[in-house]
Amino acid sequence: MNVLITPSILSADFGHLQQEVDSIEACADWLQLDVMDGHFVPNVSFGAPVVKCINTRLPLDVHLMVSNPADRIAECAALGVSNITFHAEAVRKTDDRRALIQAIHTAKATAGIALNPETPVSDIDDVIGVIDLVLIMSVHPGFGGQKFLEEVLQKVRTIRKKYPTLMIQIDGGIDLVTAKKAILAGANNLVAGSAIFKAKDRRAAIAALRQRP
Ligand code: DX5
Repeated sequence: MNVLITPSILSADFGHLQQEVDSIEACADWLQLDVMDGHFVPNVSFGAPVVKCINTRLPLDVHLMVSNPADRIAECAALGVSNITFHAEAVRKTDDRRALIQAIHTAKATAGIALNPETPVSDIDDVIGVIDLVLIMSVHPGFGGQKFLEEVLQKVRTIRKKYPTLMIQIDGGIDLVTAKKAILAGANNLVAGSAIFKAKDRRAAIAALRQRP
C-alpha cells in the first residue's frame, strides 16, 4: 500500500508560511492544517483567514481540533480543501456524526474521524463503514514536538485487519523510528511536523519517512 507523507504546518515558521510550504511542496503528498480553537484542545492555532493565504498544489487536509466542527465546514468548502477530519470526542451522537460526514461530502471533501490516544476504536463503530479516513492520534492533540505514544499502534493494527483498504492516518511524534513502526502496523498516511520542519534537509527527511521498514 502506498504511504503518503503529510507535513503538518503547526511546526512551520508562521512568519514565512508560504516559503515554508514551498520548501516541502515538491516531495510531500498532502499538507495538514491543524485548526485549533483553544477549547477542544488547550492551544489556539489558526483558521480559514490563514489557510486562504497558502498557495499550493498539495491537497489540503484540515484537522479540526475544535468543539464545533460543523461550524467550520462551509469555510473549508469555500477553500476547496480535500480532506476534513473531525474528532470523535467532539461529536458524540451517531446522527450528528453522519450528518457531519454528509456535510463534508457535500463540500466535495473526504471525511476523516480522529481518535485521541485514550479513545478506543470501538467508539467509531457507528461510522467506520462510511468514513474515508481514520486519524489515530499518537500524541494528545494541541502541540507539536511531543513523544510518540506506542500504545496507539494496536488501534492501527485492529483497524487495518478489519478494513484493508481504509486510509489510516497517524499523527504525533512521527520520526524516522516511529514512522517504520506505524507503517508496519498498517498506517498509510503519516503526519509529521517537527521531523520535517525542524530538519536541516526537509526533502531528505520526507524521503526517509516514506522508506518502507
Ligand atoms: C498535534 C497536531 C500534530 C502535530 C504533529 O495536535 O495535530 O499534527 O503538529 O507535530 P509533531 O510531528 O512534531 O509531533
